[in-house]
Amino acid sequence: MIRTDLQFADVAQALEEGFSQTPKRLPSWLFYDETGDKIFQAIMHMPEYYLTTCEYEILQMNKGKLLCHFKAVQSPFNLIELGAGDGLKSEILLKHFTEARAEFIYSPIDVSETVLQQLVGRLQHSVPRLSINPINKRYDEAIELLQQDEFRKIFLFMGANIGNFNVKEATKFVSSTSKSMSPGDQLLIGFDLKKDPRLIQAAYDDPHGITRDFNLNLLVRLNRELGAQFQLDQFHHYPYYDPETGMTKSYLVSLKNQDVYFEACDKVVHFNRWEIIHTEVSQKYDMPMIDELASRAGLEVVDAFFDCKHYFCDVLFKK
Ligand code: TRP
Repeated sequence: MIRTDLQFADVAQALEEGFSQTPKRLPSWLFYDETGDKIFQAIMHMPEYYLTTCEYEILQMNKGKLLCHFKAVQSPFNLIELGAGDGLKSEILLKHFTEARAEFIYSPIDVSETVLQQLVGRLQHSVPRLSINPINKRYDEAIELLQQDEFRKIFLFMGANIGNFNVKEATKFVSSTSKSMSPGDQLLIGFDLKKDPRLIQAAYDDPHGITRDFNLNLLVRLNRELGAQFQLDQFHHYPYYDPETGMTKSYLVSLKNQDVYFEACDKVVHFNRWEIIHTEVSQKYDMPMIDELASRAGLEVVDAFFDCKHYFCDVLFKK
């Protein structure tokens, strides 16, 4: 793996910051190491995790309409995907746009160099005529870099990405993206919608134990990368969806009073019985919340696309 030293420092710092808070926290980027990436692929294939299937359907059904919106202004555009991941969903759009001979370039942005390399490798085969400009930076750095670009900008922020922020953080993120947008630029965001609370709960607490393994993999990672001595059977995965706030939170719960030694930092961390580590936020939205987000960020809703069950929604905004 590349960036080993930096990763060690990043992980150690995340731990230092996260475990000094009450409740203890771990940042969500820690999920996505090699094993985490694989388990997340498995999550996306579970019938309970409806998000991915719904967004596929939306993009498949609306790729033509989306292109019409993107081409409403007649100049080439830069399709900038924030947190591109495996890019399988974007591929639906990229194929269609290329076949329709739209004039555009694709700029996937991701902090993981490995993810970008795989994505570019695949797209060179599946969409050979595509111009790709991969950017291995954080969103804010990449957006700043693209400011100097002469092309019109269409931002994509799909999947569960926006959900990983709470509403306040999401507002801040969308506002700052909006500030970098000029007239003619657009932004497409995927929102997981409020629905039967039991369906949401099941998506984060599946009967196969895949999501449990995903959450516990954080401890496996700390054991490997920081020489920690977490006993995996002494922590439980506990997700909780609150239909009032629309927030799903995932926790790891300590089953006993325990001290965990971290060899790489020569440090002991104590966990009380039933103490929690907060590992993830997944915010669900309704339409009034989306309108509110748009108005706070100074954006206008151009169009909204739903799957047939109205579980998920991709909303197109303009300045
Ligand atoms: N954050 C993503 C989501 O909200 C990924 C995810 C799915 C996840 N299941 C999880 C993160 C369980 C932590 C715990 O869909």
